[in-house]
Amino acid sequence: MLKAITISAALALGLTAGAVQAAESESHVVDYDFSFEGPFGTYDSMQLQRGLQVYTEVCSACHGLRYVAFRSLAEDSGPNLPADQVRAYAEFYEVWDPDLFDGEGDFRPAKPTDHFPESAMNNAPDLSLMAKARAGFHGPYGLGINQFFRGIGGPEYLASVLTGYTGETREEAGAVLYENTAFPGGWIAMPPPLYGDDVTYADGAPADVESLSKDVSAFLMWTAEPKMMARKQAGFVGVMMLTVLAVLLYLTNKRIWAPLKHRTKEGDTA
Ligand code: HEC
Repeated sequence: MLKAITISAALALGLTAGAVQAAESESHVVDYDFSFEGPFGTYDSMQLQRGLQVYTEVCSACHGLRYVAFRSLAEDSGPNLPADQVRAYAEFYEVWDPDLFDGEGDFRPAKPTDHFPESAMNNAPDLSLMAKARAGFHGPYGLGINQFFRGIGGPEYLASVLTGYTGETREEAGAVLYENTAFPGGWIAMPPPLYGDDVTYADGAPADVESLSKDVSAFLMWTAEPKMMARKQAGFVGVMMLTVLAVLLYLTNKRIWAPLKHRTKEGDTA
């Protein structure tokens, strides 16, 4: 019996490992390391600020972030920008205010309570939730084992798309498509947005394509899941409380049954 179990366990493991490798070779999503991975991982505010800069100076030309309010840039578990900088940043954007001009409406500079604008380009998707909408790691066969060990892989997928251009292009129905090793299907309509040194970081962090891609992907993970740190903390407190409760219940159980156990033992020996 034990032998049979061992053999089937070994087979299952072998199969899984093979399938994980097979899945990897198809998707070409690089397993980049991020500071927020693992049960105790946290967002790196400096990295989020750099990602915000990349988004602002490059991606916002086409992509919107309409579910993100400017004021959330001040959250200390997020980019942690000082309030006056958030106000100054928001003023770069113009929003439509229907109440201005006696109800006729007009544009005005954005306030911290406003949201980022929608995508400026029709076929460029909104990026607010993109890091959670895309799974970089799959399978095998829908078992989710790969995701269980490595995470869903949203930010890894985003960074892999940004670094995955091969330089090949082709035209289809009048539109130019760019070959990309991470994008499903292999051809994406987004021209390569990053070439390296696209932005100048104030903190002197490296600005090669891979670093820029990782920074903006970390920022987009935060826009998609701004409460990740609070969630992990709540989970940790929950596990601690359950552990204490389990110990207390175990001791209570022993105590409740102690007199009975004692009596049976005496009965046995008598
Ligand atoms: C010139 C406009 C333009 C710029 C600049 C641009 N994008 Fe895109 N992006 C697009 C278009 C168009 C698509 C849709 C591509 C498609 O569906 O083939 C897209 C798609 C995407 C996708 C979705 C891929 C998917 O799986 O569907 C992501 C993620 C993305 N862009 C991230 C970024 C980031 C991050 C930046 C900034 C570094 C950026 N983009 C800059 C035009 C742009």
